[in-house]
Formats: sequence, structure tokens, C-alpha cells
Amino acid sequence: MGADKKTAEHYSESEARLRAVLDTAVEGIVIIDIAGRVQLFNKAAERIFGYGAQEAIGQNVSLLMSSPDRDTHDRSVADYLKTGKARIIGIGREVRGLRKDGRTFPMILAVSEIGVGDNRQFVGMVRDISERKRLEEALVMASENERMIIGQELHDTLSQQLTAIALMTRALEKRLGNSEPVARDAASNVAEMVRDAVNVAKRLAHGLFPTELERNGLAAALEELADNQASLFGKVCRYSGLRDRLGLPRPVDRNLYRIAQEAVSNAVKHSGAKHIDIVLEVSPAELKLIVQDDGCGLPQHQQPGKGMGLAIMKYRAGMINASLTISPGLRSGTVVTCRLPEWQKIGERKMS
Ligand SMILES: Nc1ncnc2c1ncn2[C@@H]1O[C@H](COP(=O)(O)OP(=O)(O)OP(=O)(O)O)[C@@H](O)[C@H]1O
Ligand SMILES: [Mg+2]
Repeated sequence: MGADKKTAEHYSESEARLRAVLDTAVEGIVIIDIAGRVQLFNKAAERIFGYGAQEAIGQNVSLLMSSPDRDTHDRSVADYLKTGKARIIGIGREVRGLRKDGRTFPMILAVSEIGVGDNRQFVGMVRDISERKRLEEALVMASENERMIIGQELHDTLSQQLTAIALMTRALEKRLGNSEPVARDAASNVAEMVRDAVNVAKRLAHGLFPTELERNGLAAALEELADNQASLFGKVCRYSGLRDRLGLPRPVDRNLYRIAQEAVSNAVKHSGAKHIDIVLEVSPAELKLIVQDDGCGLPQHQQPGKGMGLAIMKYRAGMINASLTISPGLRSGTVVTCRLPEWQKIGERKMS
């Protein structure tokens, strides 16, 4: 009897300790049984989802997830129970959570299995990453705005000033005429150099602030991007595919353009390619943007933290609900493919 009491005390003490650990955890912890019913809901989960533990316990876990992740999650758990093969178990994935007030939010979900036999359960660890996402988005937008401002300044101020200098030098060249042939030739050279500088400034300005994109849409801007690479870096850079205006919302156009621009810039900087192809294709199912080079291909091992371009490309694709793959070309080089499903319906969706 005495021993039983001791054991009971020991259990209630360790239970209390476990409870304290669960409730002070920063991550939301949700334990479910194999039928998907919530068994435990810690304090952080209450804060994240907005439900009290008493409300959540006993409910199906689908209450906490929005479609389509909710359906994928149900299927993954069922598959796992049948086959033992983990698609979500043990792997941290980004999914969309659903708060009590109906708002959805991005979260990282890692699921592991506990218990044995009839008492199999799953522990879901949840981290709300909406704040981090907001910051990332603000960072991308801030750098986009900076580019726009510098591009506009370059175009409206520096290019105009250089153009004025070129015109004045031409006038000077004329006035010097045949009476001062040496000074006239020098003035002519200066005028040539300034004209080249105007062209460089304009092309740089277009890279930073692609007026063609705002004026004539994505296809026209991609064609201009290809022409500029050819004249700035002497590369064979071609655009093919669609010529029409797609009428995509501005954030979609801009993000697709910046993805192509980074992919082309990477091909120019890193691949040693002779040819770069930019292709824009559409079918009712999807819009496909491809940037392909015939260079050396991606290195076997990426040095972590070296550059930002690939990560920002992926981030931009995520922002417009597109997917991005970077893979080796058939014979050589690298292929960057961005796919935007159901692009015709995009105007109706809410864009960030
Ligand atoms: N088309 C390509 N061909 C060969 N290597 C590539 C190509 N694109 C990217 N890489 C490799 O991947 C690395 C990472 O690219 P990423 O765009 O993220 O960074 P970066 O271009 O080095 O710097 P940043 O884009 O921040 O100016 C590059 O340093 C390069 O080694
Ligand atoms: Mg780069």
C-alpha cells in the first residue's frame, strides 16, 4: 500500500513536471490519436490557434489547418499508418494553419510518432512563422523600391544630363568646324563617349526600373532583358515564346520579371555560357517561364550563405503561388523553370 502511494506520488509529480515543460514551450504542441482527435493542446498552441485547450481537445485536428494542407495531412497520416512510410512524420514542412477567427497563417509543422500498439499517437510541433514571413516580404519590397528609385533617378536625371552634354559637345564640334580641326576631332570623340555613356546609363536604368514592364507587360520586358544582356555583356541571349500582353496583376509581372533577371544574371556571372534562352509559354493549365544556359552547370556543393539570388528567386515564386525548380540542362548548363498554375484566374485571387 505504501509503495503504491509512493508510485502514485511519483507519477503525479513527473506528470506535473511534464505539464510545466509543455506549457512553457515556445512551440505549439498538439498530440493527436490515430483517428486525428486532439488529445493534448499546450499553452503555446492556445496562443497560436486561439482555441482554449478544453475547446480543442476531442476535436479533429483538421480544425487547425486550412485546405489543401488539411486534406494532404489526413492522407499522409493514413498512408503512414498503412505503409509505415513517412511523408510528414519527422519532417518539418511549411503548411497553412487556421486560427479560430478564420484567418490562415504560415506555420512550420513537424510531426513525430509516440506510443505503441493500440496507443499510437502523433505529436505535432507547430511554429507560427507569419511574423518572419512578413519581415521577409518587407525586405524584398524595400529592396524592390530602392531599385525602382535608383533606376528612375538614373533614367530621369543622369541620362538626361548626359544627353544634354552630348548635344552641347556636338554643337561645339560644329562651331569649331574646319578652323580648329584638332579641337573639333577631340570634341567629336567626347560626344561619342558621352553618347555611349547615355546608352549604358539607360540600359542600367532599365535593369533597375524596367519601364517596358510597366508599359508593355512581361513578354516585351523579357525581350528587352535579352537584348540588353546581348549589348551589355556580348552574350547571345534570346527571348522566344509569347508576344502578347497577358494582363497579369502588377506584383505577378514584377516577380516573374525579377526571377528571370536573376536567373539571367547568374548565367552571365557564373556559367560561362555562350547562349542564354528566355522562354515564356502559356497553356490554360499554367504559365511557364524558363531561363536556360549552356554553361558549366551548378556546382556540386553550394557554399552556404554565399549569395542571396537563388533564395530570393524561390521566395518571389512563393509570393505569387508559383513553383520554382533549378535543374541541370539536358546536355549542359542550368535550367530555371518557374510554373504558375491557373494563371488566368490570378486576377481574381488576392495577391500579397
Ligand atoms: N546558371 C548558373 N550556372 C552556374 N552556377 C550557378 C548558376 N546560377 C547560380 N550558380 C551558382 O549558385 C551560387 C548561388 O547563386 P546565387 O544567385 O544565390 O548567388 P550569387 O549569384 O553568387 O550572389 P547574388 O545573387 O546574391 O548576387 C552562385 O554563386 C553560383 O556558384
Ligand atoms: Mg545571383
